Amino acid sequence: METKRFDQTTIPEAAAALRRGELVAFPTETVYGLGADATNAQAAKSVYTTKGRPSDNPLIVTVSSREMVAQFADITPQAEKLMDAFWPGPLTIILTIHPGSLSKTVTGGLDTAAFRMPENQLTRELIAEAGVPIVGPSANKSGKPSPTTADHVLHDFDGEIAGVLDDGPTEVGVESTIVDLTVDPVAILRPGAIGPKELYPVIGTVDSEMHHVGANETPKAPGMKYKHYAPTAQVIIVDDPEQFQEALKWIATQNQPFGVLATDDILAQVPDATPQFSLGTDIQSATHALFAGLRWFDLHPTVTLVLAQAFPAVGLGAAYMNRLLKSAGNEHFKPAK
Ligand code: TXA
Ligand code: MG
Repeated sequence: METKRFDQTTIPEAAAALRRGELVAFPTETVYGLGADATNAQAAKSVYTTKGRPSDNPLIVTVSSREMVAQFADITPQAEKLMDAFWPGPLTIILTIHPGSLSKTVTGGLDTAAFRMPENQLTRELIAEAGVPIVGPSANKSGKPSPTTADHVLHDFDGEIAGVLDDGPTEVGVESTIVDLTVDPVAILRPGAIGPKELYPVIGTVDSEMHHVGANETPKAPGMKYKHYAPTAQVIIVDDPEQFQEALKWIATQNQPFGVLATDDILAQVPDATPQFSLGTDIQSATHALFAGLRWFDLHPTVTLVLAQAFPAVGLGAAYMNRLLKSAGNEHFKPAK
């Protein structure tokens, strides 16, 4: 299959492919998604097989209007407040669905579903033109870092999907915040650009503990138990920028080719010959660059270790650290004292 690069002028063609049950990747403000008609169980099934995704990990239903949500779920007063405040935007809302209104393939057999209205204008046009909501998991092979450019999508799926709607690099760089409204108190299942501080004025206290799900448990937040965001190289987190000098000395003794993923001030201490990827200057630029950086090291297959910079886990930093910890499988540099 030839994978097309769609743009603003070819949205009708992309929408037609979706209506035929084909897969079309789409841009959002967070990461690129892998779209398929959410009302077509066969199309949704091919999203799982194409991604290599475990079938008990449900898909997000991506919409261009609230009416599309109302086809499947009652919009509760809390949901309405969140939609007023944050839609379109990087917030996914879990609601109880009308029994049987969505296929089990989409919901993973749960009686709830995740709904999201992305900010990207072209994607909302694409969904409106298709006339159906689309499932939208991140457009990466399962386990790999999420894609923040159309090239990342093509790297993983060229020849396997009908096309990708290219609208340049995404802004935020990590996936949407997921808020579960079917539990009391309301719970954050995945941290993103919208955090407890932003949610509190709208719906009051939220549980942001991100309860961990073990491999054998019935998934509550199903995606959380799987390996995620992992490049080929082993990522090692350097918790404190002050430790970088020591970490660089230590890693040089490991006799393994290594790279560094850090902000410019830290990269200034790293020899030019060392493969390195810039996280820019602050937590915004670092979050934007994180997945691109992890993917960049995969293109340097000689690198087997990557030292990566931590940020304080507050605000956007909580979202950044959630992804970095998973990509590193929790490996931290251990300073001598
Ligand atoms: O920013 C985003 O949300 C991106 C863009 C493309 O929209 N999409 C995305 O989808 O990150 P995905 O499939 O990679 O992550 C969706 C997460 C999964 O961890 C899944 O387990 C969880 O949402 N999820 C979906 N339905 C759920 C439900 N009913 N209850 C709890 N978690 C659910
Ligand atoms: Mg994903």
